[in-house]
Amino acid sequence: MVTMHFSLLLKQILLIALWCSAFFADQVGCLSFSYPKFETKNEDDFIRSHSYLVQGAIQVTADVRGGDITNLSGRAMYKKPFKLWRKGKGDHPTIASFNSTFVLRITPDPNPGEGLAFILTENTTLPENSDGKWLGIVNQNTNGSSHAKIVAVEFDTRKSYEEDIDNNHVGLDVNSINSEKQVRLINHGVNVSTGTDITVKVEYDGKNISVFFPVSNETERKMKNPVLTMAVNLSDFLPEKTFVGFSASTGNTHTQLNCIRSWDFYSSDIGENPNLLWVWITVPGIVALLGGVLVFYMYWTRKHDSEDLEDSYPRIEEQIQGYSMAPKKFRLKDLRRATDKFDPKNKLGNGGFGTVYKGVLGNKEIAVKRVSKDSSQGKQEFISEVTTIGSLRHKNLVKLIGWCFESHELLIVYEYMPNGSLDKLIFSDDQKLGIPIAESKVLSWERRQSVIHGVAQALDYLHNGCEKRVLHRDIKSSNIMLDSDFNAKLGDFGLARTIHQSEKSHHSTKEIAGTLGYMAPESFLIGRATVETDVYAFGVLVLEVICGRKPGNQYEQNNYNNSIVHCLWELYSKGKIHDAVDLRLKEYDEEEMVRVLILGLACCHPNPHERPSMRAVLKVLIGEADPPLVSTDIPTFMWPPMPSFPNYSETSMQTRFTQLTGR
Ligand SMILES: *[C@@H]1O[C@H](CO)[C@@H](O)[C@H](O)[C@H]1NC(C)=O
Ligand SMILES: *[C@@H]1O[C@H](CO)[C@@H](O)[C@H](O)[C@H]1NC(C)=O
Ligand SMILES: *[C@@H]1O[C@H](CO)[C@@H](O)[C@H](O)[C@H]1NC(C)=O
Ligand SMILES: *[C@@H]1O[C@H](CO)[C@@H](O)[C@H](O)[C@H]1NC(C)=O
Ligand SMILES: *[C@@H]1O[C@H](CO)[C@@H](O)[C@H](O)[C@H]1NC(C)=O
Ligand SMILES: *[C@@H]1O[C@H](CO)[C@@H](O)[C@H](O)[C@H]1NC(C)=O
Ligand SMILES: *[C@@H]1O[C@H](CO)[C@@H](O)[C@H](O)[C@H]1NC(C)=O
Ligand SMILES: *[C@@H]1O[C@H](CO)[C@@H](O)[C@H](O)[C@H]1NC(C)=O
Repeated sequence: MVTMHFSLLLKQILLIALWCSAFFADQVGCLSFSYPKFETKNEDDFIRSHSYLVQGAIQVTADVRGGDITNLSGRAMYKKPFKLWRKGKGDHPTIASFNSTFVLRITPDPNPGEGLAFILTENTTLPENSDGKWLGIVNQNTNGSSHAKIVAVEFDTRKSYEEDIDNNHVGLDVNSINSEKQVRLINHGVNVSTGTDITVKVEYDGKNISVFFPVSNETERKMKNPVLTMAVNLSDFLPEKTFVGFSASTGNTHTQLNCIRSWDFYSSDIGENPNLLWVWITVPGIVALLGGVLVFYMYWTRKHDSEDLEDSYPRIEEQIQGYSMAPKKFRLKDLRRATDKFDPKNKLGNGGFGTVYKGVLGNKEIAVKRVSKDSSQGKQEFISEVTTIGSLRHKNLVKLIGWCFESHELLIVYEYMPNGSLDKLIFSDDQKLGIPIAESKVLSWERRQSVIHGVAQALDYLHNGCEKRVLHRDIKSSNIMLDSDFNAKLGDFGLARTIHQSEKSHHSTKEIAGTLGYMAPESFLIGRATVETDVYAFGVLVLEVICGRKPGNQYEQNNYNNSIVHCLWELYSKGKIHDAVDLRLKEYDEEEMVRVLILGLACCHPNPHERPSMRAVLKVLIGEADPPLVSTDIPTFMWPPMPSFPNYSETSMQTRFTQLTGR
């Protein structure tokens, strides 16, 4: 009876709390942030359209999908707005001041155009058809309209209409692409489109907006005069809550890479609207009171009915059980018993995000992965693994028998693989112990061939054969398990992602993940996995299985030349590719071996468009097709990749990439 009452009360409390939190969440204050550079992990700090965090910078218009970069516009806005003004006592609003310093780099490709802008706006959405002369600021329809609610400091690199003074100016735009004021930058010794870093400061003191460039001239430096200054009441044009960020565009024949390489922003605190003050006084009081009641209630119910609220992550259960193909759920106590309470002597190894133990359940041998609790990604990986691998059936995929989630333990049960993981059998010594593998344990060529074939079948199944396309994202020798007959089984789906049928045309998934050395060169630029990045990792695997050496870390500075891919390509170009074959392999069909090596190289082509599909790989492996033609010239990594235009000037593409990476 009493409980009933309380739950009604609880509902009321929750409603009020919800309202309060919505109220507070809606409050916007001053904003300050500083990005000395941009990393992939900062991606979620921005509302982005056609802009990417790549190579330490925000690329506002680069087309990272590898198409052409003409007629594009893009925006990158900081995710939270700041409080620009509030209603004052009389007619005069109180306006915040702000300052922002950023480093921009505009690289013409090949002729500079169109430009980049620092923008303050109500609407973060990129306007349609805002490419070319519109700089991503407004479009034909919104230009000149007070509804546009946008103020921009433009760095225009092309004279695209009559009113533009030249192809190298800074201007202040209010709800329009036609600047209220423009200043030629060449008079200040600045050319913004030379592919160099240019530091700019924008300041607003509540009355005047000013733009500063670093000045080379000593007198000017002392005077610290802004290049452009203009009185503008931003509160007349922008909402109280204003977003800040960048927009940029490229034109038809005039294109460029628009980068922001660092960015700080500070806005002053202007406090609250006076008529909201009462809310700030009363609301915290009410919240504190309700909080007290809630805490008391939870304490009270916990004491009486402790089972109800025990599980703090009920969603894991829901997400897995909601899955139609959910595998068997085990009891923790059974798995504890099976592994002797996770006795270290039963440890098989450390897999991705956890430790794997051997166990015996009934009379069946199993492997149990205990997902580490302190891995922040642990839960996500757990769900991902159980739901992807759990729904797949293929003779070359490690079979998932079940899972368990109890007392905060996340456990996954697999079939046991007596021959362990592939890396232990192919690399010439155990890295940790330095013990050479016994001659008798060296994998024969037939077994290696069968491993390659098995993994290829598994990947083809994931990419093309199952209902939803799955990207494994972490193909590597330590994730390939061998059963008692040395059949290869692909495991560790912690990073795998399912791509739903509707998204299949993109065949890619966001987030960078994987293992260095197996990651395709473009992974870092596009920041996501694709079918082609899986193929690349497969190619590296083929090479290491045949050569018996580790892939090397090609992304350590300048270490590309040490990578297995580069090394093999060099041998191949000298016509000595069979020199790479593992010395411990005694008997093999040399012609067949070279075919497979060339296939491996083809999979590792730096240009993703040149890599074969897994279907095509399988055809070569079963002898139905010849390996793809592989150029003996070591191809250079270029970005964006061109779908092999024979006459495309290669040098210009390369400069483009170097300029993007150069520091
Ligand atoms: C923001 O701009 C987009 C594109 O111009 C438009 O579709 C959308 O309605 C706008 N949103 C608001 C709140 O004005
Ligand atoms: C944009 O709008 C302004 C103000 O209404 C107008 O003067 C200008 O001609 C327009 N520009 C273009 C390119 O349409
Ligand atoms: C600025 O540099 C670009 C490319 O380097 C060049 O095309 C342009 O003419 C220069 N602008 C001025 C005003 O010198
Ligand atoms: C703002 O600019 C006006 C002229 O544009 C100038 O007279 C005034 O002194 C400036 N105010 C400040 C605070 O810089
Ligand atoms: C430096 O700039 C100031 C102001 O623009 C100008 O008067 C002066 O002549 C310049 N000095 C040199 C050495 O260019
Ligand atoms: C800005 O607003 C102030 C007070 O509201 C007013 O005196 C001033 O003339 C306005 N300035 C401009 C440029 O509109
Ligand atoms: C880019 O836009 C221009 C003018 O709007 C158009 O003529 C041209 O065909 C476009 N180019 C591409 C590659 O879409
Ligand atoms: C930028 O603004 C902040 C707060 O408004 C202020 O503390 C700081 O000194 C300003 N920095 C510069 C370089 O003007």
